[in-house]
Amino acid sequence: MSDERWMRHCLELALQAAGKTSPNPMVGAIVLDREGKLVGEGFHARSGLAHAEKIALEVAGRRAVGGTLYTNLEPCKHVKNRRTSPCAPVVLDAGIARVVIGQADPIRAHGGGAIWLANRGVEVVRGVLEAECKEANRAFTTWARKGRPLYVLKVAASLDGKTATRTGESKWITGPKARASGRALRARLDAIIVGVETAIIDNPRLTSRGKGMRDPVRIVLDSRLRTPPSAKLLPVNSRSRAKVIIATTEEAPRTRERRLVEAGAEVLRLPQEGRRPCLLALSEALATRGIVSALVEGGAQVHGSFLEAGLCDELRLYLAPKALGGPGHGWLGGQGIGALEEAFRLRWHGEPERLGDDILLIARPR
Ligand SMILES: NC(=O)c1ccc[n+]([C@@H]2O[C@H](COP(=O)([O-])OP(=O)(O)OC[C@H]3O[C@@H](n4cnc5c(N)ncnc54)[C@H](OP(=O)(O)O)[C@@H]3O)[C@@H](O)[C@H]2O)c1
Repeated sequence: MSDERWMRHCLELALQAAGKTSPNPMVGAIVLDREGKLVGEGFHARSGLAHAEKIALEVAGRRAVGGTLYTNLEPCKHVKNRRTSPCAPVVLDAGIARVVIGQADPIRAHGGGAIWLANRGVEVVRGVLEAECKEANRAFTTWARKGRPLYVLKVAASLDGKTATRTGESKWITGPKARASGRALRARLDAIIVGVETAIIDNPRLTSRGKGMRDPVRIVLDSRLRTPPSAKLLPVNSRSRAKVIIATTEEAPRTRERRLVEAGAEVLRLPQEGRRPCLLALSEALATRGIVSALVEGGAQVHGSFLEAGLCDELRLYLAPKALGGPGHGWLGGQGIGALEEAFRLRWHGEPERLGDDILLIARPR
């Protein structure tokens, strides 16, 4: 098998832990013996557990001597603040002769494993399936480099871009397949963010609701703590054990804070931008908690704020072949732009996907 095919297998292993490794990356590793026979494989299952290379090498044991190690991320070499020892020396001690790497470690302080191994006589091949490997750990890289989560904006709308009828009816615009796709997305990302109007009007649970699926941390942007203590997403009213954060400002009333804390939420007071919690301060607070990705589910005002603040790494638009008409309920609020040349510029990512009657379009910033 070629290096590309083994690396693809590595990525399949890594992705088995999708949504479970934050704030660590998803990593898979494979060990071949000197004859090219698969003798060990593994993946990093969760932060705090063993790294993929170590698992694969342990399975391989003495058969790793003179063999090849494949890994989608450069083996780490640093020791600072770590619960586990670095991998590069373990690779060397196992007697590996050749290391094939997909992507260099995006955290500079953690990198250097490839050079360290090459300097000790190990043949190192880099950049195999690099684009796919980078895509798999895009959230981790964003978090590591920008100090904020990767933000995915999700919208379900009619063909004319509406999220509700004239009377406010919004359930459901898209069909079951599109909705299931959206819920599966929740399980792969660390957090989900909505505005307080959505929390009040839709009263959503914001859970994945799939068998064995993990629920994300649920966050409501709420400057004055208007979230009702009866909201279904609050821990006392929900079966989910996922954390709920109400992101607010210093000006929000303390009495409302007490009621929400009693309902199991964490109230996070942030610096203000205008009258609202500052999104950059929120991003920093989430990154510090190891949240590397978040799904921004709306509504329109919140989508507008994230786009205007440059906090959109991907837009997922579920479009139903229906037209609702009328003046209001577009999916994107905010200030809007005056001239076309000021438009938020995006590019299509991948092909449109049919989900029953609906279509999923994905766009990313240019
Ligand atoms: N189809 C879909 O994909 C979809 C998804 C979600 C929601 N919706 C629909 O959207 C409607 C609600 O949307 P909406 O635009 O009226 O409200 P929204 O975006 O859900 O909430 C907006 C409110 O959030 C608070 N907020 C706090 N920080 C904010 C910030 N940085 N940026 C923006 N808002 C901030 C503000 O209230 P305070 O000033 O009081 O804090 C603001 O009025 C609902 O009817 C719901 O059904 C549709």
